[in-house]
Amino acid sequence: MHVVVQKSAEAVARAVADILVEAVARQPALVLGLPTGRTPIGLYRELVARHRDRRIDFGQVTAFNIDEFVGLPSGHPGTYAVYMAHHLYRHVNLSPKRIHLPASDARDPRKEAQRYEGAIRAAGGIDLLVLGIGSNGHIGFNEPGASLVADTHVARLAPATRRSNADAFGGDVRRVPGQGITMGTGTLLRARHVVLMAMGNQKANVVARALEGPITTKVPASLLQAHPNVTVVLDRAAAAKLST
Ligand code: GLP
Repeated sequence: MHVVVQKSAEAVARAVADILVEAVARQPALVLGLPTGRTPIGLYRELVARHRDRRIDFGQVTAFNIDEFVGLPSGHPGTYAVYMAHHLYRHVNLSPKRIHLPASDARDPRKEAQRYEGAIRAAGGIDLLVLGIGSNGHIGFNEPGASLVADTHVARLAPATRRSNADAFGGDVRRVPGQGITMGTGTLLRARHVVLMAMGNQKANVVARALEGPITTKVPASLLQAHPNVTVVLDRAAAAKLST
């Protein structure tokens, strides 16, 4: 793992934007895996600004979101589809036919998860995956537990995950869906390059466990230690509990 510590959250966003800009310049038809949550908001702001300055062209890029809630109508403000449109997709020249999220309103979520995994494979897999980390160590909606699932699947959300997502549901955790569709840990680990970003002292403990603790399904992000090409970009607060 290549760990980079930046002086601020803004500097993390700029550093990860640099990685994306360079990757798309090198490979214009890049396949991206993209996260939601609070962590990547600054990154998306950077990318929108750089797109406006013509420093990045999304014309041939394909994007797959990592996860989505189950059981919300299309256009619901809590969906990650709405989040992505708001923060990134509406503002850049990504072709709508190359924007992918699991359907939050699928009649058969299991089938939708299989379809999504197939679509990722048909696109040739993910070249560059940007990841956040949940405060319980989850990646996507792969929650800590006795076991993990390799492929895209329907996942039950941990109470902590539902709480941290409550903002988009009027702060009411009971309105946050109990399930999501998420890329599995295999889907995530098959990405050719993974960029994990984390900011703030509330992530310091989990970052240390994920990067320096044992590889365990109890900290799904720890599986990244087994990946050959991971860049971790942290601010000082999130790096505070690392031993090195
Ligand atoms: C959410 C998302 C994850 C995200 C994580 C961290 O529940 N499903 O993909 O990486 O939690 O969220 P945040 O960036 O708000 O801390």
